[in-house]
Order: sequence, then structure tokens, then C-alpha cells
Amino acid sequence: MKALILSGGKGTRLRPLTYTGAKQLVPVANKPILWYGIESIVAAGITDIGIIISPETGEEIAEKTGNGERFGAKITYIVQDHPLGLAHAVKVAQPFLGDSPFIMYLGDNLIQDSLNSFLDEFKSKHLDGLILLRSVPNPTAFGVAKVDEQGRVLQLVEKPKVPPSNLALVGVYFFSPTIHDAIASIKPSARGELEITDAIQELIDTQKTVEALKLEGWWLDTGKKDDLLEANRIILDNKLDIVVEAEVDEKSQISGRVHIEKSSKIINSTIRGPVIIGQNCHIENCFIGPYTSIGDNATLIDADLEHSVILEGAKIVEIHQRIVDSLIGRRAKLEMAPQRPKALRFMVGDDSHIELV
Ligand code: TTP
Repeated sequence: MKALILSGGKGTRLRPLTYTGAKQLVPVANKPILWYGIESIVAAGITDIGIIISPETGEEIAEKTGNGERFGAKITYIVQDHPLGLAHAVKVAQPFLGDSPFIMYLGDNLIQDSLNSFLDEFKSKHLDGLILLRSVPNPTAFGVAKVDEQGRVLQLVEKPKVPPSNLALVGVYFFSPTIHDAIASIKPSARGELEITDAIQELIDTQKTVEALKLEGWWLDTGKKDDLLEANRIILDNKLDIVVEAEVDEKSQISGRVHIEKSSKIINSTIRGPVIIGQNCHIENCFIGPYTSIGDNATLIDADLEHSVILEGAKIVEIHQRIVDSLIGRRAKLEMAPQRPKALRFMVGDDSHIELV
């Protein structure tokens, strides 16, 4: 059994961050999203992992993630020249996958459930495809499945106007090598991509065995800001170990589940967990409220924030209104004049989004 993680793509929904970096490396609780997927695959006993990368962001992913040693795995990087669809990525990975069955995992998805029981079901029933489904309130935004009482998949529809169910396709799939023949016989969709839903439909139409299991825990597709903040909230709630290695002065107050790494300084500030703060940060005269992650080398002075993700090297100074529900990119600077500002002066990158509410 092998694993294929899809970590190429365009990442248009997370611009402008994805102009300068891979969306799969955007951190959730200070750890790249992609790494949660790798850990979950390794925890299921699969250590031969291929990662699809794009020519634009692949190098950064490979450099940061490495050869797999840190996860107890062997990672092979596979370049997909253009993001021509999820099934196209499988096609590109065919030399790596050979005739092995495999898990396909979208590199920007996070699921709570462990993969083990799904993998057991896939193996013991010798399925050609096993998909995971999660009920969602807005099925029209997803690939949706129609399933019979035995869990057999009858039909898949991509973003249906009239959904056959509220069961959305989660970004984790299990395939036997028959998927390669299915992919070979499908054509690009109207949006010009080779769709994995079409390939699975082809398996169904040629009487291969495709079943579905329902996810019980949460599932997050972190491709958009609000989903990323939600992922951050859930991971901080569930997986944060309490460690304070930083220097904390006697005027500061720390309460709740808080993780602060070494060489950081906390001066005259209140930190109310769950919060994670990376290495070498300077936090002075601040209120850092629940569900906040702050990356390494960040500087926050006279600032007040909660439910936000602040990336590496960002600087926030003298912002007295509370910052909420925000995602601040690497090395971004937010500063306000000490006296009440008379004007707002911006230098904001393409596709940025500023709301003064
Ligand atoms: P998506 O989020 O569906 O696509 P995207 O990354 O292009 O993002 P956006 O819609 O914001 O433009 O892709 C899901 C995952 O699969 C993601 O980790 C990127 C990856 N992917 C590939 O590796 N190759 C591809 O051809 C596509 C379409 C996606």
C-alpha cells in the first residue's frame, strides 16, 4: 500500500498568500497543513509516500518537508507541470504508484478520524474504490454522492444544482490499481480538468466495487481563510500540549492551554489560551485571546487579537482595536501611529482583503 498526497494546484482561493508560498505549507497551530496528512498516513502504517508538487511551489514544499525521515516515512516528490485535475495528478504519479493500491489524500484537507478502520475495510473487502463522505449543510458546493443502503456508491455529481444527498466527498480516497484504467478512459471536464469524480463514476459504470464510509469526526478543507481559521480553532482545541519555554515577566498573565516556544519574550501581556506562539517572538503590552496561532519571529506590541493566525515574522504595532478572524501573512506589517490616526496609509498586495469594521 502506498500513499499519494496532492500538493500542487493553484491555490487561488487563498491568495495573496499563495502568490509567494504553497497553500499546503500555511500553518495550522504553527504546523504546515500538509504535515497533518503525512502523520495520519504514517499512523495508518503506510510509509511509502508520493507527494504531487507544482513547479512553482514544489521546491519550497520539498525543502521544508524533506525526505520523510522526520515522519518515519520515505517521500518521493512528483512534479505535475500544470494543475490539470486530481485524476491528472494520479496519471502523473503512475510510475511511482505502479500496481500498488493506494490512499489519495488532498494536501489541504484535514480529518479527525484515524485512517486505520477505513484502510481495513478497503483491504478486507478488496474494493476498487473507497470514498469517505461527510454530511454538509451546503452540498451544492461539493462533489456529492448517492449511496444505497449497503454503502455502495451509485452516482457522483460535482457541485450539483439539485443534490441527490447531503453527503459530500471528503478529500481522502482509497484506490486499487484499476483506477488507472478508469482515468485513461475519461475526458477533461468543462473546466478543462481530469476529474477524480469522473474516474470514480467510470469505476461504478464498469461494475467495479466502489463503497463509501461516513466520517464521524470533523473534516476541514483549508483552501479558504475561514476554513483555515476553523481548522486552527479545532487543532488548538484538540491537540495543543501546554509548554511555556519563553521568558514571561511578572506583569504578564497566562491562562488556559498555552504553548510558547523558546527564545520568545512575553512582557506585560495577557495570554488566554488556547494559544500557540512560536520561537523568538516579542509580545509586549498585548492581549492575545483564544484560538490564536503566532509563527516564529513575530513582533506584537500594543496589540489586541483573538481567533487569528499570524505567520512568521509578522509585525503588529499599536493597533488598539481588537484584531479578530484574521490571517496575516509572513513578514506583513500592521502599524498605527501612537496618536489617533488621521489617515490610513496602505501598501497592500494583489488580492489582499482589508475590512475596517
Ligand atoms: P483544490 O483545492 O481543489 O484546487 P487548488 O489547489 O487549485 O485551489 P483553488 O481552488 O483555491 O485554486 O485542490 C485540492 C488539492 O489538490 C490541493 O492540495 C491542490 C491539489 N491539486 C493538485 O495537486 N493538482 C491539481 O491538478 C489540482 C487541481 C489540485
